[in-house]
Amino acid sequence: MNTREEVGEFSKLFNGFMTLMRRFIFKVLCVGPIPNHISFIMDGNRRFAKKHNLQGLDAGHRAGFVSVTYVLQYCQEIGVPYVTLYAFGIDNFKREPEEVKCMMDLMLEKIELTIDQAISGNLKDLKVIFAGDLNLLNERLKVAAQRLMELTEENRGLVAVVIVAYSTSHEIVQAIRESCVRKCVDGDSPLVLEMSDVEECMYTSIVPDPDLVIRSGGIDRLSNFMTWQSSRSLLHTTAALWPELGLWHLVWAILKFQRMHDYLQKKQKLD
Ligand code: IPE
Ligand code: MG
Repeated sequence: MNTREEVGEFSKLFNGFMTLMRRFIFKVLCVGPIPNHISFIMDGNRRFAKKHNLQGLDAGHRAGFVSVTYVLQYCQEIGVPYVTLYAFGIDNFKREPEEVKCMMDLMLEKIELTIDQAISGNLKDLKVIFAGDLNLLNERLKVAAQRLMELTEENRGLVAVVIVAYSTSHEIVQAIRESCVRKCVDGDSPLVLEMSDVEECMYTSIVPDPDLVIRSGGIDRLSNFMTWQSSRSLLHTTAALWPELGLWHLVWAILKFQRMHDYLQKKQKLD
């Protein structure tokens, strides 16, 4: 066996050991309550690129995509039913056009890659949904997103909602408009809107409210992300930049959720 083969053997053994360790940690974690829905505000991609001197406008976002795959895998293994990922906010369209283009191109590339995985049958435990004002995306991206949703529609397992071209204020305004239209079509007069009418028309009505919101990048704010839906959620922020987010950050956030669980349950009943 030459040195290269030895290194290969060692890394195989090491990976196997880490997988076993992770399974063990998750088994212990699952003794306590597991959040039904975790939302991720993925922040810090550009700072990561700067920190590591990575070249290219999309370098940090590329590194961030690796974290997305790990986070989804861990959530799947833990048995979290719903995950939402804040991938692109409406305000992000105000960034330099070159960066916006780079991010859109990267998103298309990753969606197409995921489409290939879905076609080859390697994505059976993942249902992908895109939510937000998809009309603000370019046509190719919109079509690809639609295709991936169709391909994974029947899949059971983890539901991953990728939130793009989104802000809660935009979502509420469009939901009110849409519910007015629906009421008018129904011929209701006078037009009275109930809370449930508006909620039904929200982009994110496809998933239950998040139990836990995890934000990376060290800033304690919600950035107009699911603020309506997260009024009772536990917010956990970590200084780790999104591409640095790993197993321990996720485990730590879930442990915090478990510690706060009774309190959160009580609050839900009182509100
Ligand atoms: C988050 O990282 C990427 C998006 C979801 C748009 P940023 O691009 O905001 O990176 P920082 O916060 O500037 O480092
Ligand atoms: Mg940021």
